[in-house]
Amino acid sequence: MDTSTRKLYRGDCLEILQDYLEPDSVDLIYLDPPFNSKSNYNLPFRGKDKTHTAVQAFVDTWTWKPENDIRLAEFRRSGDPYSSIATVIDFAQQVEDLDARTRKRESSLAAYLLNMADRLIAMKPILRDTGSIYLHCDPTASHYLKLVMDTVFGKSNFRNEIVWAYRTGGVSARWFGRKHDIILFYSKSDKYSITVSKERSYNRDNKPYRFSGVEEFKDEEGRWYTMATMRDVWEINAIGRTSAERLGYPTQKPLALLDRIIEAACPSTGVVLDPFCGCGTTVHAAEDKELHWIGVDISRFAVELIRERVQSNFAHRLRDLDSISIIGLPEDITDARQLARMDPFEFEKWICGRIGSNGLGKRLGARGADGGIDGIIELDTVQDQKVVKETAIVQVKGGNVSADSVRALSEVVRRTGSVAGILVCFKEQASTVENQRSRDTWSDASGTYPVIQSFSVEDLLEGKRPLLPPRYGRRRGGRITA
Ligand SMILES: C[S@@+](CC[C@H](N)C(=O)[O-])C[C@H]1O[C@@H](n2cnc3c(N)ncnc32)[C@H](O)[C@@H]1O
Repeated sequence: MDTSTRKLYRGDCLEILQDYLEPDSVDLIYLDPPFNSKSNYNLPFRGKDKTHTAVQAFVDTWTWKPENDIRLAEFRRSGDPYSSIATVIDFAQQVEDLDARTRKRESSLAAYLLNMADRLIAMKPILRDTGSIYLHCDPTASHYLKLVMDTVFGKSNFRNEIVWAYRTGGVSARWFGRKHDIILFYSKSDKYSITVSKERSYNRDNKPYRFSGVEEFKDEEGRWYTMATMRDVWEINAIGRTSAERLGYPTQKPLALLDRIIEAACPSTGVVLDPFCGCGTTVHAAEDKELHWIGVDISRFAVELIRERVQSNFAHRLRDLDSISIIGLPEDITDARQLARMDPFEFEKWICGRIGSNGLGKRLGARGADGGIDGIIELDTVQDQKVVKETAIVQVKGGNVSADSVRALSEVVRRTGSVAGILVCFKEQASTVENQRSRDTWSDASGTYPVIQSFSVEDLLEGKRPLLPPRYGRRRGGRITA
């Protein structure tokens, strides 16, 4: 029987860490939180009509709120084990005050650090004594976060400041290309688990040294090198526009980076936790190595995307819907109805993630120019023995469906040159779609499909799929290709 831990939590990792995760249960924590970049990360979609639309995936901006004052005062109380956090926050506020360009603003850096401090403090008890934590950040925040990490994990448990160097587009003539991130590696104690691998170290002038006792190797181009202990500067390609791994999720990290961290820090039967897991790169790398894993993300869309990513890449061992425990997403029709009522936009995002749509075509919270498109499913159709990319439009209705909405969907399908439109609604609304929809069909080598169809939330929860070619929406994003 497979007793692996494969858990995805949807929620703020602070609550999940405090309320759901067991103390001393995790060997490796890798986290890649929002960086205080003052950006809103969008998921882009480029329609056939060449218009760009986007939806916010997550917001990476911080402002100081009244509750932050209360939390800061708690840190300041004498006897608080982490009282130095207050000193770090005060310092960050002073630094922002000193700078004429940030003085007038609310202290976003301090708000960011306070939020991170609470979450890092909650991570510490979850980590086993032999465990370690890798905090991924950028050079604008790393020096402040290092002070927070020194306070929480102890200065003597600092192990490395890893520089992940890459080459991506986007430069300025006013400074050197900013092409690295920082990963702060701390252990919980000095009994931590680590395997430091070797890397090629090229000899000066690429010639052999012939030192006694030193093994030397020659590469394909005749250059001589030795195998040396891996340094803390890692050159690993970032996810580029044409990368096979690319899922379109902003800030997606490469599998090779997570492979390296997991191979170094997680024992062979260990548990890996990523509390800000985005599109699930850590989870993917851990599953690949048959390790136990726990992923947390605040976004419903991200959690559904990870489920799809992992299940399609590891279909040979994760066939069942239940092979991954998902906590915090609607599990049954009552939960789904409640979400539709309480937060219609989150409901739409959740359905789009679950149905396998890879872009959300509507601006956050408002019907934009592409009104009527909630999600897009990319299809690999087979026509004249060739694979042809097509798209299907997803429209989600958490309430009543009118004849007008069915007509609007047909119009969007026509206007965007898509082959199909799927109206997702609760079962009792499906008859309106069925009565009003056009009977037109489209075909590829795999069969004939309706241009407009209804698909019920009930069927989606049971793991059924809309009538589409079999290769739809497979979000592989990994090493294994079809
Ligand atoms: C930089 S991305 C992580 C990208 C990830 N490493 C990957 O390769 O896809 C940060 C993620 O943190 C999530 N997030 C933001 N605040 C969160 C919180 N309080 N708890 C859990 N997740 C959060 C965002 O939704 C986003 O997916």
